[in-house]
Amino acid sequence: MVKLTFHGHSCWEVQDESHRVLIDPFLTGNDLADVGPDAFEKLDGVIITHGHGDHIGDGVEIAKKTGALVVSNFEIANYVAAKGCTSHPLHIGGGAGFPFGHVKLTIAHHGSTGPDGESLGNPAGVVLTMGGRKIYHAGDTGLFLDMKLIAEMNGPFDAALLPIGDNFTMGITDAVKAAEFVDAKITIPMHYQTFPYIEVNPNEFVQKVESQGRKAAIVEPGASIDLE
Ligand code: NI
Ligand code: MN
Repeated sequence: MVKLTFHGHSCWEVQDESHRVLIDPFLTGNDLADVGPDAFEKLDGVIITHGHGDHIGDGVEIAKKTGALVVSNFEIANYVAAKGCTSHPLHIGGGAGFPFGHVKLTIAHHGSTGPDGESLGNPAGVVLTMGGRKIYHAGDTGLFLDMKLIAEMNGPFDAALLPIGDNFTMGITDAVKAAEFVDAKITIPMHYQTFPYIEVNPNEFVQKVESQGRKAAIVEPGASIDLE
């Protein structure tokens, strides 16, 4: 069994019987986060989709403290290594296996400058295979047709984590179409209500996805969902 725990915004903790990883650990400055960076003692990996501060977040601090391996694009892997982290560089279309599972980077249509304006490569989505389950975390992105190809080549997905907040990423209408393209067993919204720009109603998203005959659910910050 794999347990997915939401920590607000785009931050997900993924856990199986023996390993635990964090994706996009933006906790400090995230009013929706249910935990702070100190909450993690044992951690195997920190996966970062792109360089924006609301995704790199506390990644460097958490990875240094726990010894977790940072997995991200080449530029971010170098950036965090220069700050004292252990990291593994990937790039879009490539994947690699790790003790905790397998990570592959996919395209995402967005930006990826760092917290101080550094150029940190291209933004990505993530396909994480862990504990026999497959999760697609879309990162920050607009809608794109190749989500169909991502699902065809890497799925079927047990869960899809899709941004819905509009303004910086897909809004609800486009994210509902993305849910159709990705066709995961369950679709879960993220990247909403953290800031005034992205205040949308996730219930509307869930209702629209379910009206297409797909399963969707809101996971509140601090709550978990089991992927059986
Ligand atoms: Ni972003
Ligand atoms: Mn973002």
